[in-house]
Amino acid sequence: MIDLRSADEVNRMRAACAAAARVLNDLASLVVPGISTAGLDAAARGLMLRHGCESACYGYVVGRLTYPGYVCISLNDEVVHGIGASDRIVAEGDLVSLDVVVRRDGFIGDNARTIQVGQVSPDARRLCQDTERALLAGIAAVKPGNRVGDISAAIQASLTPGGYGIVRDFVGHGVGRKMHEEPQIPNFGKAGTGPKLLPGMALAIEPMVNLGTHKIVMAADGWTARTQDGKPSAHFEHTVLVTENGAEILTLA
Ligand code: MF3
Ligand code: CO
Repeated sequence: MIDLRSADEVNRMRAACAAAARVLNDLASLVVPGISTAGLDAAARGLMLRHGCESACYGYVVGRLTYPGYVCISLNDEVVHGIGASDRIVAEGDLVSLDVVVRRDGFIGDNARTIQVGQVSPDARRLCQDTERALLAGIAAVKPGNRVGDISAAIQASLTPGGYGIVRDFVGHGVGRKMHEEPQIPNFGKAGTGPKLLPGMALAIEPMVNLGTHKIVMAADGWTARTQDGKPSAHFEHTVLVTENGAEILTLA
């Protein structure tokens, strides 16, 4: 069952997503050489207070593990779910992926962005540009009557020319009162397949793209996913609402 949001719920999703976008935007401006990822995490905590929301990541439980950070901060070859640490210092040339998931008034807003710190390698720059473009290609496929597979196929098609590794072990998702709801939204797949999109569905679309292999390995902390070959990874995400004639991006700052 994929929930359809009522008018009241849509407004509450809009507010949660606007808060998530503001937190991400403000946090992105703090990403400069010399700041630690623990410093960024602490800043995120403060920004959430200021923007009237709370972290949906902090205390999030998967199996026997509890996520200890307020936002996910993933550097370079880290794909997703990196944890802020005082001895991880942001440096010129790094890719810093920030994933901000907040709760406000009972609803979730989820968005992510990869920041290029100063001058990054041409390959890393291209990876970021193409991953953001893939997110927009996926969003362009959102309209009533289309299917989840149309989003997946559009993302995959936009990435094919670049020869990237599209992460398969993590996917986009429905979002609402919970961070992860139905449907799953893979970043690869066949057009015309999967559940039909209907007005009122809220979807988190989030291509995770690697410069090399799509394969990932999990760190000993149980959370941090990194690329198997050590090459960089990028991640862009918006929460969108399916409308009568297309999509409304709820996490535009
Ligand atoms: N946007 C991430 C996701 O959808 C957020 C994970 S929060 C964590 O998986 F607590 F699970 F890390
Ligand atoms: Co997400």
